[in-house]
Amino acid sequence: MNLLTLDDWSSKDIGSVLDLAQVIKKDPKKYYDTLTNKTLAMLFWKTSTRTRISFESAMTQLGGHAQYLDWRTTNLALGSLKDEIKCISRYVDVIMARVYGHADIEAIAEASNVPVINGLSDMFHPCQILADLLTVKEKFNRLKGLKLAYVGDGNNVCNTLLIGCAKMGVEISVATPKGYEPNKKVVEIAKKTSKVSLFNKPEEAVKNADVVYTDTWVSMGQESDKEKRINDFKGWTVDSRMMKLTKNAYFMHCLPAHRGYEVSDEVIDSKNSIVYDQAENRLHAQKAILLKCLEIA
Ligand code: CP
Ligand code: NVA
Repeated sequence: MNLLTLDDWSSKDIGSVLDLAQVIKKDPKKYYDTLTNKTLAMLFWKTSTRTRISFESAMTQLGGHAQYLDWRTTNLALGSLKDEIKCISRYVDVIMARVYGHADIEAIAEASNVPVINGLSDMFHPCQILADLLTVKEKFNRLKGLKLAYVGDGNNVCNTLLIGCAKMGVEISVATPKGYEPNKKVVEIAKKTSKVSLFNKPEEAVKNADVVYTDTWVSMGQESDKEKRINDFKGWTVDSRMMKLTKNAYFMHCLPAHRGYEVSDEVIDSKNSIVYDQAENRLHAQKAILLKCLEIA
């Protein structure tokens, strides 16, 4: 089973992976031998801290092995992607890849004989959102009926939050500056199963939110637009004034954060900030994702 967008998984699939992640987190030793002799290939076209390390540690702790492959030090770029993936999938049991265009992760899945996991594309970041849902579930002991407000750029994280929240019965309100809205098709999909509201003013989105989430204004691959983006996002920093409009909401960020830009120090360092719990949960969630994709649990 692949994990490419999160829309490729049913609510039941997501719910079972979150339950499994909680069980594994509670008793990691019980899962030490579940992936003995299994290998994960991790292909990176972009940099990473959390995704790389949590997947690598997850494989070690499940008794398997992970190979880190930087596209610059392989022949992924020299040969055709299809040929390279066909070869890689004969050596390993599962592939995780971080790519630029989403079409690349689709091409990898098409060529591969083994399950493929999207470790972030320009459109989606499903592993992140599974860890985020796990974190929210832990804090509230439920997901259904909660309200999450996303403030900032309607990017890969925002698109996947829309899908993940909608599938799990979480109301989601998104505030972006004009021109930075999330993908239209994704919004339509999310609207089918949950309450979704889009705003161009952060104050309106965060009203009554249980969780406020933000991400960078300049995603990987958008560096040449940095100056324009920083200018367009002026006034969009999630700060204490904005958090005061919520009902004592938790603050979330997938990290890396740009302090003083999308979030103030005061908010990210506040007692309501759960960013490091989110980051830790990447490890527990990756284990459940690997077991699910390999159809072991
Ligand atoms: N949140 C996240 O995916 O972090 P990295 O880019 O460091 O992997
Ligand atoms: N939106 C960010 C997420 C990083 C984890 C990016 O794509 O760079």
